[in-house]
Amino acid sequence: MHVSIAIMAAGFGTRMKSKKPKVLHAISGFSMLYHIIKEAKKISDDIHVVLHHQSDLIKEHISNYFQDITYVLQDYENFPGTGGAIKNVKPKYKKILILNGDMPLIEANDMKYFLKEDSKVVMSSFTCINPMGYGRVVMDISRKVLKIVEHKDASKNELLINSVNAGVYLFDTEFLNQNLPKLSNSNTQKEYYITDLISMAHEQNIEVKAIQISEESFMGVNSKYHLSMAEEIMQKRIKKRFMENGVIMSLPSTIYIESDVKIEGETVLQSGVSLLRGSKIINSIIKTNSIVENSTLKNSEIGPMARIRPESILIDSKIGNFVEIKKSTLQGVKAGHLSYLGDSQIDSGTNIGCGTITCNYNGKEKHKTIIGKNVFVGSDSQLIAPIVIEDDVIIASGTTVTQNIKKGSLVLARAKLKIIDNFFYKFFGKNNA
Ligand code: UD1
Ligand code: MG
Repeated sequence: MHVSIAIMAAGFGTRMKSKKPKVLHAISGFSMLYHIIKEAKKISDDIHVVLHHQSDLIKEHISNYFQDITYVLQDYENFPGTGGAIKNVKPKYKKILILNGDMPLIEANDMKYFLKEDSKVVMSSFTCINPMGYGRVVMDISRKVLKIVEHKDASKNELLINSVNAGVYLFDTEFLNQNLPKLSNSNTQKEYYITDLISMAHEQNIEVKAIQISEESFMGVNSKYHLSMAEEIMQKRIKKRFMENGVIMSLPSTIYIESDVKIEGETVLQSGVSLLRGSKIINSIIKTNSIVENSTLKNSEIGPMARIRPESILIDSKIGNFVEIKKSTLQGVKAGHLSYLGDSQIDSGTNIGCGTITCNYNGKEKHKTIIGKNVFVGSDSQLIAPIVIEDDVIIASGTTVTQNIKKGSLVLARAKLKIIDNFFYKFFGKNNA
């Protein structure tokens, strides 16, 4: 589509009360700016991100995910404000869609809505119960937009208006080039406001098209409280899509799923489950309070209270409570209780007894544990990596295995049991008899 997009992300975000740039604060696992760029890329190949405050940090973050972004530096010292932000943007196309960088809930379809309009100036507004902080949209009685007044500049009567500026605009590039130089900073904040372009259009008898949209997609995040509100909205959205696709969730309000997680087939998620970054769940049951991060589960059952850490693959496996798995591949494996399996590869038919530990770290490096098919690892065993346990091995309960074990063996390492009759009474005295 032939539209340029500019995302304004140069502000200080003072109301966030954080050293971290506002647009890098995350919801559903990814920064606000990431979410906006991801959606913007679906409709434009000419994306400009305006930066100033901590620009290098933001650039580095974004370049981990996206190429072909034009970074524009705002001349903040001379032209602070959202109007100043746009001054140095040089769009490739005749139309430019401008977005605030703090609206993480906007989706490509919402953006497309603007592109259907052919007015030279298009803005958007929504009605909200608490318009605090938003610019108010001032209209005449025929609901023609006259201007936008910022909260800090608004009169008592204007503050009563609950129709607010959403912070998305579509301009003819020509209109923008002609009018940006005319912006002034004669307002309470001494800033150049992009919103003043609306009254300028009105004064030039250029029709301002105002689109009514929903707060659900366009809310601006200015504080950490707003961040939590946006998170709730995005979570509801993510979970609704999965449930409509056949996933069962008990008490979905207690479940957290990051935005790139994939779930397929007849999957069940019980309450309190967290599915983090990069995870893929296929036909699996995840029981209460389990966490899966950047891992793949297929035809498996985990939890309650299991933790699957990054780079794990579980296929046809059953993992019980208090089992931690990291960077491991398990296929057809059972590990029912209280174990740590790290940097391991475990094959089908193998049973990992309660309290098994793969000792993968010697204080300097991490080492691998490889366990074959049909191995029975008795409870409370330690496997000192690097180690290979071949197929059909039995490891007796309480054994510390320090070397590779050949196919079919029994491994047993125990101190001889010592029993001293009536020792209790000798030690504590006869009165305890
Ligand atoms: C802005 C609008 C307000 C609207 C609201 C919607 C203006 C003047 N006001 O207010 O009418 O109701 O969004 O959420 O536009 N930024 C820059 N350079 C700057 C200042 C800000 O790039 O010099 C960026 C910020 O990083 C942010 C975006 O512009 O991503 C919006 O700035 P913010 O300070 O949040 O504006 P609001 O007060 O929310
Ligand atoms: Mg804002």
